[in-house]
Amino acid sequence: MKMTEFTFPQGFLWGSATSAYQVEGHNTNNDWWAWEQAGHVKESSGAACEQYERFREDFALAKSLHHNTHRFSIEWSRIEPAEGVWDDAAIAHYRDVVLELRRLGIEPVVTLHHFTNPLWLAAKGGWTNPIVVDRFARYTRKMAEALGDQVRWWLTINEPMVYAVMHYLEGTGPPGARDLRLMSRVREHLIRAHAASYRVIHEVSRPRGWAAQVSLANHVAPFLPCRRWWPPDRLVARLTELAYNHRFIETLVSGELRVPGERPLVIPEAKQTLDYIGLNYYSRLWMRARLLGAGGWFGSRCYALHHKDVTERSGLQWDIYPPGIAQILGWAKPWGVSVLVTENGICPVDDPQRERFILNHLAWVARAMQEGVPVIGYLYWSLLDNYEWAEGYGPRFGLIEVDYKTQARRIRPSARRFAEICRTNTLPLDP
Ligand code: FCB
Repeated sequence: MKMTEFTFPQGFLWGSATSAYQVEGHNTNNDWWAWEQAGHVKESSGAACEQYERFREDFALAKSLHHNTHRFSIEWSRIEPAEGVWDDAAIAHYRDVVLELRRLGIEPVVTLHHFTNPLWLAAKGGWTNPIVVDRFARYTRKMAEALGDQVRWWLTINEPMVYAVMHYLEGTGPPGARDLRLMSRVREHLIRAHAASYRVIHEVSRPRGWAAQVSLANHVAPFLPCRRWWPPDRLVARLTELAYNHRFIETLVSGELRVPGERPLVIPEAKQTLDYIGLNYYSRLWMRARLLGAGGWFGSRCYALHHKDVTERSGLQWDIYPPGIAQILGWAKPWGVSVLVTENGICPVDDPQRERFILNHLAWVARAMQEGVPVIGYLYWSLLDNYEWAEGYGPRFGLIEVDYKTQARRIRPSARRFAEICRTNTLPLDP
C-alpha cells in the first residue's frame, strides 16, 4: 500500500522567517543603507514593511496561519548605534517582540546577524578587521542578557558563506570588495565570531535554566557543472561545493578549516559549536570554470538558461529542484545533530507556483526524515513580501502580500494551504 500522507513528529517547528533590514524599515545606521544611498542598487529599502511598528499585526497573521515558530533578526546598528553605546529603547523593543511571540504561543528563533553591520563597524573595516570577533561577542552578550530567559533557539549568523562571497568576492553588497584573500579573512572572522557568540549565549543563558540551542543558518545547494562534459567545469563545481557547503560547517564540528588550495587553519574554539544545524535551501547552482573569475576565484555562476536538466524556474529564474532539499538534508545526517530548515522559499511566477513549491519541497523533507534525517522544523522564507537586497521590491517571496503604498497585508492562497499543513502537522502525499 502506498502512503498517502506523512505525519511529522509532535512538536515540529512550523513557521516562516524574516530579517530586520528586509522588513523593519528606516535602518539608516548600517552599511546596507549607506550602500543604497550611494546608488549601488536600483531601489532603497526605505520604509520596508514598517514592521518595527507593525510587528503585532504581522505576528497575529502568522498565528492565524497556525505558525508555531517565527524566525526574525535583530538589527545590531539599532542596539549599538555607536561603538560601545547601547540603546536601551531598542533592546526593550526586541524584548517586546519576543514577549509578543511568546504571548501568542509562537516560538522565537533569533538571528543576531543577517547581512548588515553598524556604520561604525564598517568604518573600521567591518568583517575584515579581527576586532569584529570581540565586538560581535559583546553585542551577543547584551542580547542574550536581555532575551536569554525567553529565547531558546539562536542563530548567530545568517548564511556566512553567502555573506562572505556576496560582499567580499562578487562585490554585490557593501563594501563591494572582489578579493579572494579578503573573502578568506572574512570567513575566518565569521567562524571565530560564531564560536565566541556560541559560548556567550551558553554562558549567559545557562543560569536562567534554558537549554539554549545555538547554530547558524547555512545556505547550502547542490553545485553542478554548466557543461557536464567539460572537466574544468566539473572540477570547479566540486571545489565550490566543498568550500561553500561543507567546509564551513565542518569547522564548527572539528575546529579545523580545510579548504582545497588553502593552508589548513586550526580554530580550536570553534570545535563543537553547533547544537543543531540550520539549513537554507532555494535552488541548485551551476558553475563554470573561468581563468579570471570574480576576485580571483576560478569559477563563476552561470544561470544555465537552456540547460535541459532545468525543468522549472522561479520568477527570478532560479532553478527549482525539490529533490535538492533531501540531498542537502542527507549531507547533514553524519553530523549527528538535529536539522532545522531555517529558510526555503520562492519568488514565484504566480501564487500556485509557490503552493506547488512548498508541497513538493515538504514531500522531499518527509522522504529525508523517513531515511533517518532528524529534521525538527521547516520555516518558509518569508512571512511577507519584503526588500530583496540588490533586487529591491520586485520579488515577492511572501506568504502574505504587502501593498507598499498603503502597507496593507493580504494573505495569499498558498499561505492558507501551508497553514493547513502547519495545523494538522500532516502532509498529503500523491498516492
Ligand atoms: C537568502 C537570504 C534572505 C533572502 C532570501 C531570498 O539567501 O538569507 O535574506 O534574501 O535569500
